[in-house]
Amino acid sequence: MKKIGVLTSGGDSPGMNAAVMSVARSAAHLGIELIGIKRGYNGLLRKSGYLENDVVEMTLDTVLDIADMPGTHLRTARCVEFLQPLYQQLAAQTLRDLDIKGLVVIGGDGSFQGAKQLCELGIPCIGIPGTIDNDLPYTEMTLGYDTAINVCVNAIRSIRATSRSHDRAHVVEVMGRNCGDIALSSAISTGSEILLVPEVQWSVEGVAKRLEEQIQKGNTRATIVIAEGALRGAMRPFDVAKFLRAHGEAELVEQSGTKMTSYMLAHILRKMVSKSDIRATVIGYTQRGESPTARDSIFAFEAGHMAVDLLSKGIGNQVIGRKKGRVFHMDIERALSAKRSFNKHPYSLVYDL
Ligand code: ADP
Ligand code: F6P
Repeated sequence: MKKIGVLTSGGDSPGMNAAVMSVARSAAHLGIELIGIKRGYNGLLRKSGYLENDVVEMTLDTVLDIADMPGTHLRTARCVEFLQPLYQQLAAQTLRDLDIKGLVVIGGDGSFQGAKQLCELGIPCIGIPGTIDNDLPYTEMTLGYDTAINVCVNAIRSIRATSRSHDRAHVVEVMGRNCGDIALSSAISTGSEILLVPEVQWSVEGVAKRLEEQIQKGNTRATIVIAEGALRGAMRPFDVAKFLRAHGEAELVEQSGTKMTSYMLAHILRKMVSKSDIRATVIGYTQRGESPTARDSIFAFEAGHMAVDLLSKGIGNQVIGRKKGRVFHMDIERALSAKRSFNKHPYSLVYDL
């Protein structure tokens, strides 16, 4: 194997650059040329119209400084066309034209689906799980998850400090798409009182009751950590418009709509819970834009090394993960069909509201 490629795809995650750096170092060590593909699968479709904007040669010099940087140096993007077989064939052709014999794909499950298609078209691919969401059940951790939790923990600690000063409860929304792991870990690490995740049904009334109990006990700074995905399917039906109208706030229905958001939840809870002041904070993209923690950096380093090692031996169709502290690789198709089970923390008081 003389030449391989690397791309980052989907939402960026802390540690993507470290993984690219590790791929570059391992490739250089084995005398393999490395080509960086820009903006996920878009680069392989040569979407910018200029080859030099879509693919770049990655020398050790180019990547030496990026390992601890947040974001992704190669850029990332979603590429809708790539869902279609025709475009997958075009991408495979680009790789053949460039004489690239293997590809490292750093991204989440969507990106891995794309890698699987390329494998079926004869391009050996290795997936590195780059996503903050931790929603790939075949591995104990995804790259960026640990950093995202730490961002949330720091934010929630700050929020709990000011909440305590003001005797305020607080709704804190974290990312995770349809996965509650970031919320679970952040809530447990901060001693937050209420947790709402997409994996467990909850109701606004149940949260209000739990909050009321906390306030009655003298805990006026209770924190409700909510995963963004919990605002969708897991919430038992609640008619926001009816509630607001019944509380004389028909205007708000016109202004803010009837969608349940974290801000709306805080507003509704203020009405439902006695003697309460409740605010909301959405932590948002700070979870993705942080420099990787040591744990993520180590995983990135090990995963990059294993990816190149496999490709250099002509092995593709694999993804890399971590279990019991060790990196491992497994078949991409098996990894993608692994089933998720949500790990309810045994000491948590926060489920089935
Ligand atoms: P992530 O990789 O973080 O899960 P997405 O789900 O947005 O992020 O997927 C990233 C990209 O991977 C998509 O924009 C698309 O280019 C590619 N992709 C996603 N799903 C598929 C699929 N089923 N087949 C081929 N490519 C896919
Ligand atoms: O997959 C990572 C993630 O940050 C999710 O947690 C979130 O739902 C999504 O990406 C946001 O994506 P976008 O960058 O398109 O807003």
